[in-house]
Formats: sequence, structure tokens, C-alpha cells
Amino acid sequence: MHAFSSVPCLPEAASTPIGAEVYRGLTALPKRLSPWLFYDQRGSELFEAITELPEYYLTRTERDIFAQYADEIFEAADAKKLALIELGAGTAAKTGLLLAAAVRRQGRVSYYPIDISASALEEARRRIGEEQPQVSCLPIIADYTTDRSEIPTATGVRRMVLYIGSSIGNFEPAEAVALLRRLRGQLAPGDLVLLGVDHVKDRSTLLRAYNDAAGVTAEFNRNVLTRIRRELGANFRPGLFRHRACWNDRESRIEMHLESLVTQEISIPALELTVSFRRGESIHTENSYKFTPESVAGMLERAGFAVRREWTDARRWFGVYLAEVAGSR
Ligand code: AVJ
Repeated sequence: MHAFSSVPCLPEAASTPIGAEVYRGLTALPKRLSPWLFYDQRGSELFEAITELPEYYLTRTERDIFAQYADEIFEAADAKKLALIELGAGTAAKTGLLLAAAVRRQGRVSYYPIDISASALEEARRRIGEEQPQVSCLPIIADYTTDRSEIPTATGVRRMVLYIGSSIGNFEPAEAVALLRRLRGQLAPGDLVLLGVDHVKDRSTLLRAYNDAAGVTAEFNRNVLTRIRRELGANFRPGLFRHRACWNDRESRIEMHLESLVTQEISIPALELTVSFRRGESIHTENSYKFTPESVAGMLERAGFAVRREWTDARRWFGVYLAEVAGSR
């Protein structure tokens, strides 16, 4: 008798990142899928379109804060020479305003955008090369949520890690603290973090940002099913799922769900898996946490950082926080 003869064997696709995530999420109760699955080619295009929607104030408001305060941000950083590192940089569209301010203050700037998408980083490098010759753009292809020691080091240069766009809002509070704490472990006294987060505000403004009239967010949400169809052979019909966004006041987050309009069975051949849905049953596809200045400070403190300064817009809808490694002043 072989000791392992009865261990059930999952198909190979279940050990790819997407296969593992879909297997885990759709066999869980309640069903869920992780938001990183949104960002295939089409999903990244849809997200770009979201950032231009009238209802989606986040990107525009953060850009306005950078346009108004970028020079102040680098004054407050108070370093002769800073290297900039950006987590989840994508195509680095909004970073231009910060890079330009860094160039005004110190001349040459080294900029290390980190992202899992090689094509996005290639576009970032091309555009920055054209528009900002004083910036050396040195892309790093990595998953900053899992890969260790990806933060570059250089002697005599302080680092400012940019984590903007309210990306941290996708993580549960404990995960967000763990991520920042891990980042803290890779930094030294004198290094800085610039964190951009969406603020708690009136419920209808929040809900409209995730329920746009043109239906782009609905398409973005349902695109995850199209991706699972394509990459794992699933027979999802995205039209049989409805986009739903709600405000969870207790958790201080917007939630996105895909709600099955009918009772149905979905088969996912690559995972040798069949998933049943009751009518009205949903897949929880995203959390987008919203913060107060106090909750941001608390999160940073638990991770070993201290807020040095913060900037916001006239309506206080979005916040940009400059934090230092705690105890380094
Ligand atoms: C990229 C995580 C900041 O939470 O607002 C936009 C993603 N989801 N519309 C957000 C998103 C639906 C976005 N983040």
C-alpha cells in the first residue's frame, strides 16, 4: 500500500495563480474572487475608462492634489536626494506630476516602477523617456504583494515609496497592515512612504462612483467572468450575472458583487470543477476600503510608520499621506 495513493489530485491548471484563485474562491462560501483577477488586457482598459468617468472622482481628485501640492510634498520630504519607487505603478500615468516636482527639486531622479505587467512598465518607460529626460526609469517586474526584497537600495540616497491611487483599499485591514509592515522591514530610517487613499464621504457619492450611469464598472466587474471563460474554459455567460455595488458601513468599504440572475451550474473544465449558483447568489469580487485621517494614521502606526504630513482636496474626498519610518527623527 502506497502511503499517498489516496491523496486526491487536482488538475495542473489549479496550481497556476489564476487557477488556484478561481478554485479557492468559487468553492468557498460565500463565493469570492480576488480583485487582481480584473486586470487582464481588457480589464486594464476598462479600469482606465473608469478613471475618466464623471462619477469616479478618485483618480481626478488625487491628480488635483498632486498638481497643487507636489512641490510641497518634496519640501516636506526634506531630502537632498530621493529615489522614487512605486508599488503597482502600471503605466505610471499620475506619477508624472510627482516626477516633475522631484526633478525641480533635485535635478536627476531615479524612478523604479514595480508592477506585474511588463507591457504596462514598457509603456511607462517609453513615455517617461520622452517626457522627462532627467528621470532614469528602471522598471522592476514583480508582485509587490508577495515578492521579497524587491525594493532597490543605494547608499546615500533616501527612498520614497509611492503607493497611490487608493490601491491599498483593496486589502482587508489586517492584510494592509501586514503589507505595510513588510515594506517597513525593507526600508531604513529616513526613508518615506507616500500613501494615497480614498476618504469616507456621503454614501451616495461613494455608491455613484461604483455604479456609473454608462455601465463601465458593471462591465469591468463582469469581465472577470469573461477572463475565466477564456483562460480556464468555463462556460460562464456574463449576461446572467448582475453587477451590484453596496456600501458596508460597519467595515467602511464599498463591496462589489456579481449576482446570479438564475439558478445555474457552471463547469470549469481546466479545474475539473462544477459550480452551482442559486438565483440571487453572488460572488464577492472586490472590497474598496475608505479611510479617515485617523484610520490611515492608525494603520501606518501599526506598521511602524508615523504620518509626517497630509494633503487633501477642498472637499476632503481623497488624502495623500507622507509617512516616515517611525522613530527616525
Ligand atoms: C484601483 C482599487 C483603487 O477601489 O476604486 C474601480 C478599483 N473598482 N472601480 C477602487 C475599482 C471599481 C479601484 N482601485
